[in-house]
Amino acid sequence: MSIETLVRPSDLRQHIYEWRRRGLRIALVPTMGNLHAGHATLVNHARKHADRVVVSIFVNPLQFGPNEDFAAYPRTPIEDRTLLQQYQADLLFAPEVVDMYPAGMKHHTIINVPEVADILCGAFRPGHFAGVATVVAKLFNIVLPDVAVFGEKDFQQLHIIKRMAIDLCLPLEVIGIPTVREADGLAMSSRNRYLDAQQRKIAPKIFAVLSSVQEQLQKGSRDYQQLELIAAEQLIQTGFKPDYVSIRDANSLQVPDDRSIELVILTAARLGRSRLIDNVRVNL
Ligand code: PAJ
Repeated sequence: MSIETLVRPSDLRQHIYEWRRRGLRIALVPTMGNLHAGHATLVNHARKHADRVVVSIFVNPLQFGPNEDFAAYPRTPIEDRTLLQQYQADLLFAPEVVDMYPAGMKHHTIINVPEVADILCGAFRPGHFAGVATVVAKLFNIVLPDVAVFGEKDFQQLHIIKRMAIDLCLPLEVIGIPTVREADGLAMSSRNRYLDAQQRKIAPKIFAVLSSVQEQLQKGSRDYQQLELIAAEQLIQTGFKPDYVSIRDANSLQVPDDRSIELVILTAARLGRSRLIDNVRVNL
């Protein structure tokens, strides 16, 4: 038995209307597939908040830059469907590009969340978060969920989606789930597949470096720039090419000030052809 899969938004809508007519609460877990235990945790949380869980799998071309890995992004539809059956999701929405962008992407309406989309990862991936916000808004409008579940692993993405939901008065709750890690600390990610054996050994250093910055902050250190520099240097020494290491206010993603009560240390670093991201939070 395999999970029921719908490709066309209009077919999905029929289920949604029927569920809503029966007063059922609906959760959505948007993904790009190649599912792993991090996605499983999202589905489990979604089930706690709703009567029906829809998972979407769509590798969204609008959020990939021209030199990024859209074509190479790992696509494993058969394994994903088996996993979703195990996770006890109720429905898989797996549209094709033409179903999501019937008139193409060139002149498509774009949702741009100001201030937070052009910093950190946004500075290195121009247009990426506009692509994410746009496709997530479309998915919200197709699925009409009461609650949508995202991972804190993509901390900036989660922040932007929460912001968009508030700004556009979207009638749903956006929930963030803590990062699921491998035993050695590496944050689970579909892109970990790109790592060769040697890189896989090095990769957990990201979490180790972030954790050591977390420890310094907990001990009272407040020289953010110095901490960021040392952490970036440690990553370089290990073989990474960091895009950035940044200590931010966890609630605004801006540089912390006297009123900051929670910080987040975020990094994106390249290792071979992989670009890994991770973050760790600190309560002050
Ligand atoms: P994807 O990378 O497939 O991730 C789907 C969801 O799983 C996101 O909310 C992400 O934060 C979460 N996730 C990934 N790895 C995780 C981990 N180790 N622990 C906890 N959660 C994890 O993020 C996207 O897809 C796309 O940008 C999407 C939101 C689907 C829009 O296209």
